[in-house]
Amino acid sequence: MKVLVVGNGGREHALAWKLLQSQRIRQVICVPGNGGTARMENCQNLPLRVDDFEGIARFTVVQNVTLVVVGPEVPLALGLTDYLQQHNPNVMVFGPTQEGAQIEASKYWAKSLMQQAGIPTPRCERFTDAAAATDYVMAQGAPIVVKADGLAAGKGVTVAATVEEAKTAIESLFKSGLSPVVIEECLTGQEVSVLAVTDGLTVRPLLPAQDHKRIGEGDTGENTGGMGVYAPAPLATPALMERIEQEILQPTVEALRQRGIDYRGVLYAGLMITPEGDPMVLEFNCRFGDPETQAILPLLETPLEELLLACTQQRLEQFPPITWKQGAAVCVVAAAQGYPGSYQKGQLITGIEQAEQLGATVFQAGTQLKQQQLLTDGGRVLGVTATGETLAEAIAGAYAAMDCIQFEGMYYRKDIGHRVINV
Ligand code: AMP
Ligand code: GLY
Repeated sequence: MKVLVVGNGGREHALAWKLLQSQRIRQVICVPGNGGTARMENCQNLPLRVDDFEGIARFTVVQNVTLVVVGPEVPLALGLTDYLQQHNPNVMVFGPTQEGAQIEASKYWAKSLMQQAGIPTPRCERFTDAAAATDYVMAQGAPIVVKADGLAAGKGVTVAATVEEAKTAIESLFKSGLSPVVIEECLTGQEVSVLAVTDGLTVRPLLPAQDHKRIGEGDTGENTGGMGVYAPAPLATPALMERIEQEILQPTVEALRQRGIDYRGVLYAGLMITPEGDPMVLEFNCRFGDPETQAILPLLETPLEELLLACTQQRLEQFPPITWKQGAAVCVVAAAQGYPGSYQKGQLITGIEQAEQLGATVFQAGTQLKQQQLLTDGGRVLGVTATGETLAEAIAGAYAAMDCIQFEGMYYRKDIGHRVINV
């Protein structure tokens, strides 16, 4: 069986790595992939853009690809799944249609779905006019959250401590063309990412994970795509996971179905657990999380392709329970100096083999292989994942491995897991 993975991040490297552990999978093709997927055995990079739907569809026909797994939100929001279904009736696609991807691509659309289905989420209003948004913020007061309604690559959210900060955020979103904006009530508590797979009828949660979104230690500084993650997150106890499934995931899948949306892929709930212990949805994503996937997949025992095929063939209800390895996994992300702002590319990366000899797995993200040299090629460069019987052991393993890796300007947070353990 041949599987095509769309994307070029650490998430896609982890997906390809996990898929290739199965005997049934002869080859994984990554579009466009990165330096890590270029080097993996039985894996090949195909240098197409993720929005080259025609090129991707043609390849799946000519090469007889069985399954396409779409990593990032952008091609999903542009309708890659719909296009492939129309142009290659033989291929199965894991990832929602364009309509379903609105759950991530329009925060307001997601909000109205949640309101309709009675899913707990903070109050919000949407504005197409900057002055009206500013008036609203002044009436509400701070703290308050300002968000771009559409996709903004993780950069569209400001948790404003003051009204002034909120006004600046509104101005900057309108100036950079990221309007309309959504203004939302600010919640406190701890965040957890619950990714679930669904075939449009049944939904099965994966292990809960806790991401570290801020660039700085102690969760300070700018928001990023995610600087590190661990799984399972003890915060999401079995009782809380049961509530999340009953009160959030199942009603969401049901609401999507009622809107006539055939959603087969990942439903990722970004949750805030309030000080009272109640889960509330901050956002939904229509794809695997990055770096969450890099900590979740190393613990997955169930063959990944079987789980994904059960979703695409709508037989998740009959599928056996998902099984997990005991213990914990942590992924620490190494970024280029300057990220999430501007950064340089093209720095030589060394030490990955030594890191892996210590038992860790290095998932590459912003890297490229150029004349056999591995060079940095993005903001988040790689993620070092280690597993252990305990979270403390996994953390120690990941940092020991990280010590082996070098590139100029390399930055990583030294406190991943600090909410559970004093590192
Ligand atoms: P989002 O992309 O909507 O998940 O927002 C990115 C980050 O902003 C989240 O992970 C939270 O840390 C923060 N955030 C978003 N919405 C809220 C909210 N209503 N209250 C507090 N923090 C929020
Ligand atoms: N780690 C956050 C995300 O994937 O959106």
